[in-house]
Amino acid sequence: MTRVVDRSLLVDAKKNKNDEFYTQYVDIVAELAHYKGHFEGKVVYCNTDDPRVSNFVKFFVDNFETLGLAKLVATGYALGDETRGSVMVYDGSEQALRDFETGKVERLEGNGDFRSSECLEYLRHADVVVTNPPYSLLRQFISFMRSYEKDFLIIATVNAITYKDIFKLIQDGNVWLGVGLGRAVSGFIVPEHYELYGTEARINERGERIVSTNNSLWLTTLDLEKRHEDIPLLETYVGNEDRYPTYDNLDGINVNKTKDIPGDYYGLMGVPITFLHKHNPSQFEIVRFRKGDDGKDLRVNGKSPYFRIVIRRKTDRDVEPLLPGDAALADGQTLMF
Ligand SMILES: C[S@@+](CC[C@H](N)C(=O)[O-])C[C@H]1O[C@@H](n2cnc3c(N)ncnc32)[C@H](O)[C@@H]1O
Repeated sequence: MTRVVDRSLLVDAKKNKNDEFYTQYVDIVAELAHYKGHFEGKVVYCNTDDPRVSNFVKFFVDNFETLGLAKLVATGYALGDETRGSVMVYDGSEQALRDFETGKVERLEGNGDFRSSECLEYLRHADVVVTNPPYSLLRQFISFMRSYEKDFLIIATVNAITYKDIFKLIQDGNVWLGVGLGRAVSGFIVPEHYELYGTEARINERGERIVSTNNSLWLTTLDLEKRHEDIPLLETYVGNEDRYPTYDNLDGINVNKTKDIPGDYYGLMGVPITFLHKHNPSQFEIVRFRKGDDGKDLRVNGKSPYFRIVIRRKTDRDVEPLLPGDAALADGQTLMF
């Protein structure tokens, strides 16, 4: 299906340049491929998405039937000289498809702020919100989704994890990371006048200007298979204590890579943020973020490694965890978790 996209509609929000990063279709496809069953019979709402330009909207229109959507709603913030935001309610009919393809949208009363009463009314009737929201309003965005008890799948920056309130949601298992991380979100489309910075900046075959940030991730409340898969723990602490120094300000050990988490250690461990990408809440408990007992950043011999997340193995599982010795299987054998 072809849709003519007028890129001049993409304008720079004066205050928050980074709010005008538009998501690429390929990156949406790559992530959404993992959620096929989640949208059956659901009303999907893209609430920071001008239907005329958003690739989220295009993705859900293209896959409306395959995903079994009940309805797709998109509202977009007023662009450029516009004072009123745009809205599209898509029901999969031929007329709706024609309107979408020709860029026909309805006007909202207000400017399309996702916090406005008319957008909140759409939110109230939605099941799942899928979008890349303005980074400057991320906390508020998530807090709205929570108070309206909506599932969501959104793009955020890695930094978001370091916000206290968002970390707490992750710690408590209310929100988790999606599948794509870092380079998996391969770049964003930026407006005409936006400087193309970084070695990976480019103009693609459609003439879209792309910058790669390499610091994005997906946050979601939708269940994912990988959340139920254990991280294989193939290393041992006993005999390798020198690889796992203890912190100056916490009774726990420092682990530099998720794959090095020892299988025979049940105390506190500081692991890199990328651990969250593999986290299975029935295998590990997230104890705290970054700080030692003195309230300061975790230190080893006076030095702080990059941000650490403090975790501990869960011991109250129904299924016995795999022990390191068990993992030393002969070639061709499969690990069972
Ligand atoms: C990171 S961009 C992503 C755009 C689009 N969701 C996408 O993924 O391509 C965030 C968008 O939110 C819009 N925006 C900024 N403030 C907003 C608000 N208060 N309510 C709704 N949209 C807003 C910006 O104009 C921008 O288009």
